[in-house]
Amino acid sequence: MYRILKAEKLAEKIVLMDVEAPRVAKACQPGEFVIVKMDEKGERIPLTICDFDRKAGTVTIVFQAVGASTQKMATLKAGDGFLDFVGPLGQPSEFVKENLEELKGRKYLFVAGGVGTAPVYPQVKWMREHGIEADVVVGAKTKGLLILEEEMKAVAGNLYITTDDGSYGRKGMVTEVIRELVAGQGKHYDVCVAIGPMIMMKFVCLLTKELNLPTIVSMNPIMVDGTGMCGACRLSVGGQVKFACVDGPEFDGHLVDFDQAMKRQQIYKTEEGRALLRMQEGDTHHGGCGNCG
Ligand code: NAD
Ligand code: FES
Repeated sequence: MYRILKAEKLAEKIVLMDVEAPRVAKACQPGEFVIVKMDEKGERIPLTICDFDRKAGTVTIVFQAVGASTQKMATLKAGDGFLDFVGPLGQPSEFVKENLEELKGRKYLFVAGGVGTAPVYPQVKWMREHGIEADVVVGAKTKGLLILEEEMKAVAGNLYITTDDGSYGRKGMVTEVIRELVAGQGKHYDVCVAIGPMIMMKFVCLLTKELNLPTIVSMNPIMVDGTGMCGACRLSVGGQVKFACVDGPEFDGHLVDFDQAMKRQQIYKTEEGRALLRMQEGDTHHGGCGNCG
């Protein structure tokens, strides 16, 4: 049993949990994810890691209570636990493996949308811990849905907050802030990392292509079982078949076919849709993934 040490409601339907998982905490890196399972019959839920404390042996997760499983998960309290807490899974963020001196010469812009602020946080924190200052744009629908503001303020160079309805910070979507910073104020960035809803990442990428700003996105939202088995997270990156949970979750956003990924995500939701995808693409483990022959 993986004990929950803290369970805190960050906003309407958004919950943060600190979970005792020393082996995961010891090994995990920004960008990676875990799979949690509440009980024997529970659904496997892939969640990008929001923070970790190697000394305390804890991993922080943040999730939105949208489906039956996450709504049940939101009722868990400190002292309760998960049957499974598997990880770290996926590939760490690219910069973790890069030369530190080269990284220090690069200017990063992180763009976080809604619940996507949670996976952005450990990346910006890593940058701060390694002496690299990064700017951060956080977008939320409204003030009440803004999360981790103080935590982000503590690790970001400049923090720009925007709300769709103007109830806090600037008014408008994250794309408007990016345009204002780059085209309006003439700020230069070498890399943009955008994590949030698919539609946000799509529009950020359309803009950053125009601004000639290389952009990394996280395709976590299309993952289902997180093991490379179900085929849900199949996507096209630069015309090649990739699986978000095995090859990602982070990819070059300018190469991701967002329209196909979003359409596929809708089709995958029904049994009929899954059968159709199996027929069109082949079962994941019988050629569909392109990796197992
Ligand atoms: P949201 O709908 O409140 O959007 C957050 C912000 O994204 C908005 O405030 C806006 O600034 C920006 N945005 C949204 N649509 C946009 C558009 N068309 N153009 C430009 N900017 C736009 O976000 P939410 O409800 O918190 O998001 C939930 C979604 O985030 C879920 O679908 C979940 O799967 C996804 N998510 C993604 C990741 C990831 O790793 N990519 C992680 C956690 C959650
Ligand atoms: Fe099932 Fe990637 S989430 S194959």
